[in-house]
Amino acid sequence: MLETSTIDVITGMAGRNMKVAFDLLPSALSGFVLQEGKKRDIGMHSGHEIHYDWSYSNFGNPEFMNLYKKAKKGQWDSDDLLWNTDVDPTNLDFQIFPEKLQPMYNHPSYRKLSKNEKGKMLHSTVSWLLSNFLHGEQGALYAASMTVEATPWMGAKYYGSTQVMDEARHVEVFQKYLDTKLNKLYQINDNLFVIIHALTTSSEWDIKFLGMQIMIEGLALGAFGMMYRFSKEPLLRELLKNVISDEARHVHYGVEALRDYYTKEVPDYKRREREDWAFEVSKLLRDRFLFIEFYEENFGHAMSRKEWIDTVVNSEIMSEFRRMLFSRLIPNLKAIGLLTDRIKPRYEELGLLKFEDGKAADKITLNELLAAA
Ligand SMILES: [Fe+2]
Ligand SMILES: [Fe+2]
Repeated sequence: MLETSTIDVITGMAGRNMKVAFDLLPSALSGFVLQEGKKRDIGMHSGHEIHYDWSYSNFGNPEFMNLYKKAKKGQWDSDDLLWNTDVDPTNLDFQIFPEKLQPMYNHPSYRKLSKNEKGKMLHSTVSWLLSNFLHGEQGALYAASMTVEATPWMGAKYYGSTQVMDEARHVEVFQKYLDTKLNKLYQINDNLFVIIHALTTSSEWDIKFLGMQIMIEGLALGAFGMMYRFSKEPLLRELLKNVISDEARHVHYGVEALRDYYTKEVPDYKRREREDWAFEVSKLLRDRFLFIEFYEENFGHAMSRKEWIDTVVNSEIMSEFRRMLFSRLIPNLKAIGLLTDRIKPRYEELGLLKFEDGKAADKITLNELLAAA
């Protein structure tokens, strides 16, 4: 039997772009039905062309080389972080992340828990969030390496290679934090797996950019910013600040790589397909990071899945998350030409158009990102 999320991918798009639905279907089957994200390891075929340039003359947008220079100077050593900080993720008197942002915080069953049990919940919440940050970073590592191969511009290949290094460092620091400070790792969230699967297996280079550099990196900037803003744990804050400084370059790169392509080069029918693809992925991102693995572990015996979803969708953490995510994402979609008059009404229906006048990644500074975060 098909999972509800898979059916959504098909029927939820009735009257809309069926090609996009069918493009996403294999990824939805792999993630939602076959649960391939829960396997210990998995191979995926990427199918993109590796672009060589023996003339070394086409460097593309000059901003690629500016970003490359910034990236070389912006490298940091993961060994220099405050790794000897003592972290107790269950301590409610020094909360690694505010207890009031627990998805269940306002639910009566949470109120009945002992202090000890609430501490365990806090530990699980932070572990779930950081586990999915880690899994997203692994996806970013491979996506960045694919873009080095697939782009036609030497400037983009140079810059992209710095992103590969950045993403390896991000995987390293999140894995080390989870292993040595939290000692708990959750499997990848199904929705994140489906998006990573879709961009990895697409043979089109711009889908890899759009999926990773704009959508997932935009999500990451929002989520990291939320964690940076609300955590007081010094190691985690330092780690996140360094990661955010790298991610800001990555999203900027995505905007630079896609803007001219979508606004000047692709035919209208293809740009419309990308508009629809980005919209469907936005919907996957909007309501679907619902701590399901956390629910199954802690509340699966106590409440129905529907009650859980209703509770989490309306929780403070999810409304903050949606605000942070889409205040980053929507201006970037506009900057690359995928927020046209044709697609705007659909974003309006989701209440997301209010973010369209925010600063895109090519304009926003790190200080603004951290302050807004
Ligand atoms: Fe990253
Ligand atoms: Fe990144």
